[in-house]
Amino acid sequence: MNYQIKSYEQYQKDYAASVADPQGFWASVAEQFVWRKKWDTVLQWDFLKPDVQWFINGKLNITENCLDRHLAALGDRPAIIWEPNGTDEPHRVLTYAQLHDYVCRFAAVLRNSGVKKGDRICIYMGMVPELPVAMLACARIGAIHSVIFGGFSAQSIADRLQDAGSEFVITCDGAYRGPKDIPLKNTIDDALAACPAVKRVIVYQRTHCPVSMIKGRDVWWHEELQAVSESNLPAEEMDAEDPLFILYTSGSTGKPKGVVHSTAGYMVYATYSFVNVFQVQPGDIHFCTADIGWITGHTYIVYGVLCAGGTSLMYEGIPTYPDAGRLWDIVDKHQATILYTAPTALRSLMAHGLQPLAGKSLSSLRVLGTVGEPINEEAWHWYDDHIGKNRCPIVDTWWQTETGGIMLSNIAGITPAKPGYATLPLPGIQPVLVDEQGTLIYGNDVSGNLCIRFPWPSIVRTTYGDHERCRTNYFAAYEGLYFTGDGCYRDENGMYRITGRVDDVLNVSGHRIGTAEVENAINMHTGVLESAVVGYLHDLKGQGIYAYIIMQSMPDDAAHTQADILQTITRVIGAIARPDKVQFVHGLPKTRSGKIMRRILRKIAEGETDNLGDTSTLLDPGVVEEIMQGKV
Ligand code: WTA
Repeated sequence: MNYQIKSYEQYQKDYAASVADPQGFWASVAEQFVWRKKWDTVLQWDFLKPDVQWFINGKLNITENCLDRHLAALGDRPAIIWEPNGTDEPHRVLTYAQLHDYVCRFAAVLRNSGVKKGDRICIYMGMVPELPVAMLACARIGAIHSVIFGGFSAQSIADRLQDAGSEFVITCDGAYRGPKDIPLKNTIDDALAACPAVKRVIVYQRTHCPVSMIKGRDVWWHEELQAVSESNLPAEEMDAEDPLFILYTSGSTGKPKGVVHSTAGYMVYATYSFVNVFQVQPGDIHFCTADIGWITGHTYIVYGVLCAGGTSLMYEGIPTYPDAGRLWDIVDKHQATILYTAPTALRSLMAHGLQPLAGKSLSSLRVLGTVGEPINEEAWHWYDDHIGKNRCPIVDTWWQTETGGIMLSNIAGITPAKPGYATLPLPGIQPVLVDEQGTLIYGNDVSGNLCIRFPWPSIVRTTYGDHERCRTNYFAAYEGLYFTGDGCYRDENGMYRITGRVDDVLNVSGHRIGTAEVENAINMHTGVLESAVVGYLHDLKGQGIYAYIIMQSMPDDAAHTQADILQTITRVIGAIARPDKVQFVHGLPKTRSGKIMRRILRKIAEGETDNLGDTSTLLDPGVVEEIMQGKV
């Protein structure tokens, strides 16, 4: 990997080169991958449409880069080490040779089931090795996977299946998560009642819980696999810009949108960012605690790690099961060298004190990382002192589902860290700050909305089935710029600190949730007239969800009505979207034109009632007083 940055000087040199000649820079990185045919043109772009294409007319298959290319030198090296939820079950190791074989055979199963290039395959599984196998098998034959996080409800799955027009589903009977057995297949069955287009469901048997298998539609993974013997299924030749996957994510309006990533650009940037940010060395064991249902798992458990020939350590369960020392046991047991986790996980482990760390060595660790939300200084120092023992660099990586890979981050041990700061852009990334009017804010010690002014290889290509939505969401706010939705501060040394979303997207325990989505779910509940949802500072989750609800008539038994409404939200979206606080109100603060003033509601939720700002434009200032008095 000739593109690994080895010194601060090289970082500066590579960064400068990537801005002066982006095409030349990325071509020299892309040269180091396996292509069936090289590209004609490196980049063509227009942010107004938007239309971004990288490595035009290049032909490749990403699984040849993840698997086949490593067979000769690394065939016996672990590609995936899997640690089960329960401590009494043995772990599993899949070497590159075994993973290659498994992927080829499952790809043959998919092909025999009628899956064709370009088909969208919905994957709803727990964190078992068969999940990356399913993803790679799709990629092998050119099918587009859409992984849905195991915490989403049947209704959410149905929405995503319909939006993507999926005819195939891959799932598990159930999933183990901590003390719970989650009946995934049951949830799929509920979803499929609304999705008659689905003609095949392949079920991997994990928990052996009872499942309903529908004749002609549902088949068992292990039985299908027995029927094929192809251990070297040829990979489909894909165009550089062919979609690799869809991943649904929340925005500020309406339903979640399907972010589409391309094959070549995503591959190049996922691998480049992995190798550089974590300063990956041969023999590293990379432990990313994210769920593969989110972008972090896609890029830094599956594609980036495997393309780089690394070893991905994946864990089925949760950090606190069977006790709050589990992650540290896993690190010691498998001698993990890199640990990549979320601030919310660190905060929840911190709350258990230092006892769970007793007797854990953690001496194998070399690099620590965080992702998903701003990290508070207390959590940063706890991570540094107690996990890294002040000898492991911590990389604070800022990025998004739409960016495909890490955008702003220090480079482990090479560029400086600063607690709470994602610090500097990776080569190829050109961040800018703008004010509300879109005017660029120059200089240092300034704040603004974070935009990116030049394409990078893994930028979102479209939102599935609705390109206009991609334009309005990301490229319309500020002409000629990609808008991230995040606010940001650039300090006196030019280092970036993400201050949080400036749109109506919440970040709850590192999960993105749109306030509009939660409001829509609440409004579906009987008796609800209107609702407004805001985020507030939460010690463990980063942000909590606060819902203000107007009912047709004030409930007699508020606790009961609240529980019912939470149940509706769980049904419509999933348990992750349940508000932490619910307040029943008679009215909401609105402007004369009928717009809810969320700024005021946020302040009340955060208990900052001394300074509510200008309330003179309110239709009825009296409602504010009532809401303040009833605050929960
Ligand atoms: C937030 C997750 C501060 C940010 C990879 C972004 C962060 C959203 C960081 C994307 C970080 C992610 N510091 N905030 N290091 N990383 N975020 O799409 O608000 O699930 O816009 O991607 O998470 O969330 P997503």
